[in-house]
Amino acid sequence: MVEAIKVEDLNYSYSDGTKALEDIGLTIYEGEKVVVVGPNGAGKTTFFLHLNGTIKNPQGDVRVFGKRISDMKIEDRIHQVGVVFQDPDDQLFMPTVFDDVAFGPINMGLDEEEVEKRVNKALSKVGLEGFEKKVSHNLSYGQKKRVALAAVLSMEPKVLVLDEPTANLDPKSRADFISLISDLNERDGITTIIAMHDVNALPTLADRVYVLNKRIVAEGSPRDIFSDWSLLKDNSLEAPDVFKLFKVLNCFGYSSDDLPLSFDEAVEVLTRTIEGTEGHIHLHIHEHTHKEISHVMDSYNHHRNGKK
Ligand SMILES: Nc1ncnc2c1ncn2[C@@H]1O[C@H](COP(=O)(O)OP(=O)(O)OP(=O)(O)O)[C@@H](O)[C@H]1O
Ligand SMILES: [Mg+2]
Repeated sequence: MVEAIKVEDLNYSYSDGTKALEDIGLTIYEGEKVVVVGPNGAGKTTFFLHLNGTIKNPQGDVRVFGKRISDMKIEDRIHQVGVVFQDPDDQLFMPTVFDDVAFGPINMGLDEEEVEKRVNKALSKVGLEGFEKKVSHNLSYGQKKRVALAAVLSMEPKVLVLDEPTANLDPKSRADFISLISDLNERDGITTIIAMHDVNALPTLADRVYVLNKRIVAEGSPRDIFSDWSLLKDNSLEAPDVFKLFKVLNCFGYSSDDLPLSFDEAVEVLTRTIEGTEGHIHLHIHEHTHKEISHVMDSYNHHRNGKK
């Protein structure tokens, strides 16, 4: 397997002394989809700023396809890794949408015709055809998020890093973003690395999850991570609603080997179970059922009502 990103012994402190990253080590392989989760202030954005060289001279080893990032020329770097920032206003600074999306390809030294082709392709991917002449600054938040993504897609990076791509989007835009990112990974083979708090979207976008809280505290499949409620509690994380609901169904005697992580998976699992049991699901209430349910609720709803 080709190592797309390899980070070893990475530390970072801001100039005011805030230690944001401690001894980070991780490897992300080409074609993987990886999600980084962690509480506010965990260092996710700081970590991502290392992946496109915004933070120069890293205190540690950051490699992209085997090359040390600090040794790479900017044209080379932006072709390998594209980072879509958390706040689109940090990314868009040109007068028009066209200029913002063309900025990267122009900097890569592409000719005018190729630049135009790339801009059109990127805007069409994000569903913003016809927006070329609009002033980026005046667009809605959701539209700006799309332009910011297009501005990175136009460089056709091999690795796409997205910081909170679904935050503050309406449900349709959120669903569009999730399916666009999945397609970029599955169809175009782009390695995707995403920071997000949106646990209901996470299973679609993650083969593997890293829990970051200054350090890498855990790594595993979404199911591994969501099954460990004390890990979730310690790092201000939560499990998808569907997963929690099936934990409760377990207390009522419903058994399934793999608890579903998404609505679609839940429908599949239920259908399979019902088909396999001649149309019935057997549920029951025993003496200890309520106690078990309270335990699940306490474990998985640890953030409710300001609980610690
Ligand atoms: N420019 C800065 N100067 C000083 N400290 C900073 C600066 N930027 C971030 N920090 C601090 O570094 C730590 C990590 O912040 P970072 O933005 O990387 O977290 P995050 O995981 O992205 O959080 P969020 O989920 O809120 O986006 C925080 O304690 C933050 O206050
Ligand atoms: Mg952040």
